[in-house]
Amino acid sequence: ATSLKTAYQQDFLIGAALSASIINQADPQLVTLIARDFNSITPENCMKWGEIRNADGSWKWADADAFVAFGEQHNLHMVGHTLVWHSQIPDSVFKNKDGNYISKTALQKKMQEHITTLAGRYKGKLHAWDVVNEAVDDNLKMRESHWYKILGEDFIYQAFNLAHEVDPKAHLLYNDYNIERTGKREATIEMIKRLQKRGMPIHGLGIQGHMGIDTPPIAEVEKSIIEFAKLGLRVHFTELDIDVLPSVWELPVAEISTRFEYKPERDPYTKGLPQEMQDKLARRYEDLFKLFLKHADKIDRVTLWGVSDDASWLNDFPIRGRTNYPLLFDRQHEPKPAYFRVLDLK
Ligand code: XIL
Repeated sequence: ATSLKTAYQQDFLIGAALSASIINQADPQLVTLIARDFNSITPENCMKWGEIRNADGSWKWADADAFVAFGEQHNLHMVGHTLVWHSQIPDSVFKNKDGNYISKTALQKKMQEHITTLAGRYKGKLHAWDVVNEAVDDNLKMRESHWYKILGEDFIYQAFNLAHEVDPKAHLLYNDYNIERTGKREATIEMIKRLQKRGMPIHGLGIQGHMGIDTPPIAEVEKSIIEFAKLGLRVHFTELDIDVLPSVWELPVAEISTRFEYKPERDPYTKGLPQEMQDKLARRYEDLFKLFLKHADKIDRVTLWGVSDDASWLNDFPIRGRTNYPLLFDRQHEPKPAYFRVLDLK
């Protein structure tokens, strides 16, 4: 095959998250590459509440409109990201000037206005929406976000119903991280079942897929694909990337407090990725795509969270200023060994 999207055209969509700067700078080589390899796009930031609205609540549409125009121009499937999330949203949405929570009704009204205006503007243009993002916490309980504390679990039910009313043809997703691992997978399934029992319109499960070079094992990912499909939902990998740097999530207790501090030993590949690691990354991508192909009947889309390593969020998360290698294209925008492994599977 000559490109990722043609290789996988019978199987599932191949997507990429695009930043506003990719869209606005429109580097011709990068644009050609995107149009060649990908047939789906997700806005990396520009449709998030804190990006698309000013502090006073007024809207700033420029980046999101440019994103949608780009998708239309290149005939790409488009996913909106994201309507309701606890992050990248100002506290002033939830709190009065005195710092107290606003009322249930007041927050419901804001949610309604937000979803109606945003999903309404792009109705018929965006094909899917990440309606609610990251409602389950790492402790496997519902995340104690402002949304949850004011509205309870009902915030999810309300958000999906609003999105469905506004754009009945849009494919509506619940999106979260680490749900391809034991624990959060089960907690998410329980939550979705409760909501489905109430008749909530939901069509897909978004597995973000921010993975490690060794974890989770492929069998864990497979279990999630199978279990989520059993809920009657389509499976999407919405934010796939593979962190090759030493994980700071499993540090010994003595080092936990320094977790987010930059230390040279936490950034070992500033001069390039050693061949051995490059191969390991390629094999990890290959194993994942083999699995996706095995379950292509359940999977609608596999989206990478970015295009090339130089612009990946993982250079700055969870520690700022590191040199990471999570994607299929390198810092010169050349395809990496991982790219060819994925391509050559077909
Ligand atoms: C990230 C973006 O990539 C960064 O540019 C931004 O600073 C923070 O958010 N889960 C999500 C995405 O659903 O929206 C996040 O994107 C990555 C984790």
